Formats: sequence, structure tokens, C-alpha cells
Amino acid sequence: MLILGIETSCDETSAAVVEETGDAARPWSIRSNVVASQVPIHREWGGVVPELASRQHIRDICGVVERALEEARASWTDLGAVAVTQGPGLVGSLLVGVSFAKAAAAAAGLPVVAVHHLAGHIESLVLQNGELPLPEIVLVVSGGHTSLYLVERPGRYQLLSRTRDDAAGEAYDKVAKLLGLGYPGGPVIDRLAKTGNDRAVRLPGTRLTHADRNAPELKGDLDFSFSGLKTAVLRHVNAAKGEGALGEAAVADICASFQRVVVTTLVDRAFEAARRWRARSIGVAGGVSANSRLRADLRMHGELREIPTFVPSLSLSTDNAAMIAAAGLRKFRAGVTTPPDMNADAALAL
Ligand code: KG4
Ligand code: ZN
Repeated sequence: MLILGIETSCDETSAAVVEETGDAARPWSIRSNVVASQVPIHREWGGVVPELASRQHIRDICGVVERALEEARASWTDLGAVAVTQGPGLVGSLLVGVSFAKAAAAAAGLPVVAVHHLAGHIESLVLQNGELPLPEIVLVVSGGHTSLYLVERPGRYQLLSRTRDDAAGEAYDKVAKLLGLGYPGGPVIDRLAKTGNDRAVRLPGTRLTHADRNAPELKGDLDFSFSGLKTAVLRHVNAAKGEGALGEAAVADICASFQRVVVTTLVDRAFEAARRWRARSIGVAGGVSANSRLRADLRMHGELREIPTFVPSLSLSTDNAAMIAAAGLRKFRAGVTTPPDMNADAALAL
């Protein structure tokens, strides 16, 4: 069976065709995965402008879907279902994908499967690597999310912790902005950090105490928090600028030091969760999983502690529709389809 996936939750318009293989260990293969990025449009404003994003999705959606079908050498009659991101995300952007998916599916007589965006990121790991050894800890780390999930059975995602303020990708974007490095911040900080000294700038770690003193069983010590770190970088930059303009080497040192704290926090919490829940594998997905140091540290710690670690390919780590199609196929095979009155939900829970 072929499924069409559609993703428009933020600033990428994407459509993909994914095929069921019949192989339980490697259940899906990608026939096409077309992504129209809006980064050049939002770069001018230093971040995603929701109203511009939804208007651009409207311009792009038909062409992107047509190309995905063409590249997959498939027509509407070859499809078995349409999967679409229902949320979370920018509501205007989500609405474009959801409306298109519902209308196209109705016209073609196909069922719709509504997909949670983070389920898509989690299934990108399976799309890339085949089914992972369970139980598995998945860290989803992107511009909007930093969350740890426990997967004990395929398709069941149990939230263990999340960020209390900024997402890790958001921290990258904000630090890049205050250093005048442009948008998005992740890739440029990743590149500059390679030439910097990661111990040059003393920045606070991100240790946390109990989230709720009235519910001490919920320790919350696996939660994340990145806004204090961002503020510490801001303070350091302001103090350094007071002594003159920041040179290239100083900027590289800040990037490397900031990245060390972020990556160490992410990796430590993921392995701590794996220890507590006796996980047999660890996966990291979402835009920030493209980070070169995160990938290297994850592999190193995995080898050291003898636990297999997994990441998606670079093209499957940032937002794309193939991961939504995969998560949709998983739901469809579990017997779940979505009634026609389904609507976009900006704060959809997983
Ligand atoms: O998953 P994604 O494409 O969109 C969301 O769902 O948010 O993630 C985008 C985020 C941005 O914050 C971007 O700065 C970050 O991923 N990112 C990176 C890297 N590449 C993208 N962060 C760190 N290092 C990278 N190499
Ligand atoms: Zn995402």
C-alpha cells in the first residue's frame, strides 16, 4: 500500500509518498519526499512570521503534492490513505495542510489519518533504521519541542519529560540572533562551534530541582530548561561588547561553550532516562538531531555504555512529510482513521 503524507505545521511545505514493504523489521520505504522550505522568506524577519507562513503554504501545497506523486510515479488511484499533521504547530499553517488533505481525500475517496507532529519525528527513526529494540527512549529535540518519550510498544508514546521554557532549537535560534548570526541559528552555531574552545566561556549548566513540591514523586529532574542559559549568553555578550566589538574567535568560543552545555544536558538526560527505564535503545529525532556534536556525543556515550543509539538522516531530521506518512501508516494499520470533522489543533497532545 502507498500513503500520501502532508506536513505544514511550521515553515516547510512538504508532501511524501511512503510504501509499505511487508517486512516487519523495516516496515516502510520512501518513494518521494518533497520539501519546500520557507527559510529565505522568514530569514529577513529573524524568525518565522505565522501569517507569511500560512500564505506561502497556500501557494506551495498543490505543486508540492503534485511533485511528490510524480517522483513516486504514483497517481491518486494508487494511494490507500492520506496522512496529515493535525498539530501541534502554527494554526494557520496547519489549517492549509489539514484542509488540503481532507478535500483531496474526499475527492479521491480515500481515508484520512491525522498525525501528531512529534509522532512523525519519533517514527522518522524507524523510517531510517527499521524497528528499534524496545523499550526505547526517544529524545525529540526541535525548534518547538524538547521532550523525552518512552516507547515500550510500537506506536505507543509515553511522555517522560519536556522543557519548562524554551526548546533547545529555540535557544540556538535566540543565541544566534543575539550574536547577529541570522536565522535559523542551529546550523550556523554548529559550524562556528567547530573552531571555538568549548571551555572558554563559563556558562551555567541546566540542573533542575523538584518541579512540584506537593507531588515529590514527580521529580521533574529529567525536565529541560534553556532560557537561563540563553540569558547567561546574553549577559556575557553584553559584557564582552562593553570591552569592544566581538571578534570571530570570541564568537566561535561562545558558540562552542553554549553548544557544549546544550548537548551535554540533552545526552545526559537521555541516558539517565534509559538507565531508569532499562531501555534497549536510544533515538534522537527533530531538527536539532542534525547537530554534529549531538550526533558524535550520542554515539560515543552509546558505545561507552553499550546501548545502541539511532538518529535519522539529515533530511529526515528536519520537518518533512515522509515521517508523517510513516506515523500515519502505523496508525492506519492499527485501525485508526479520522472522521471528516477533524480540525487542526495548535496544541494537540500526544
Ligand atoms: O524539527 P524542525 O525542522 O522544526 C520544528 O519542528 O521546530 O527543527 C528546527 C530547529 C531550528 O530551531 C534549528 O535551529 C534547529 O532545528 N537546527 C539545529 C541544527 N539544524 C537545525 N540545531 C542545532 N544544530 C543543527 N545542526
Ligand atoms: Zn518538527
